[in-house]
Amino acid sequence: MKTTITLLTFLIAAAPAMAADAIVNPLSPDAEVIAAGRKLYHSAGCIACHGNNARGAVGPDLTDDEWLRKPSDEMIFNTIRNGRTGTAMSGFSGDMTEEQTWQIITWLKDENAKRKAPK
Ligand code: HEC
Repeated sequence: MKTTITLLTFLIAAAPAMAADAIVNPLSPDAEVIAAGRKLYHSAGCIACHGNNARGAVGPDLTDDEWLRKPSDEMIFNTIRNGRTGTAMSGFSGDMTEEQTWQIITWLKDENAKRKAPK
């Protein structure tokens, strides 16, 4: 009986956490991670559509606060990995590791923070 109650308490406590976005950026925004992300943004060809410093071109600006979809880590990760059907945004899961994808995302967040920082 006690075990059942303990298990139930656990399930009730864990439910909100399980319902929330499951995928979050596991990397800390260190200088090396940010530099690697910036490099990958160029080498993977993102720059061709999202422009210099990801400020937007054919594809949207990825460093401002305007997003086509709510910019959770999970949404950005899945968009880069899987692309968006029916748009020019193709998936890059075959071109880079998951860690490299997070490196790009870390760099994009850093660019966003830099734009907001007082000059
Ligand atoms: C051939 C052009 C092209 C390339 C190359 C490309 N993208 Fe995109 N990307 C787009 C377009 C167009 C959209 C908008 C899709 C839509 O309408 O939903 C987009 C959307 C996105 C979004 C979602 C933006 C939002 O507001 O929801 C992210 C994040 C993104 N791209 C990241 C990347 C990254 C990182 C790379 C390189 C690994 C990359 N893209 C390469 C064209 C491109």
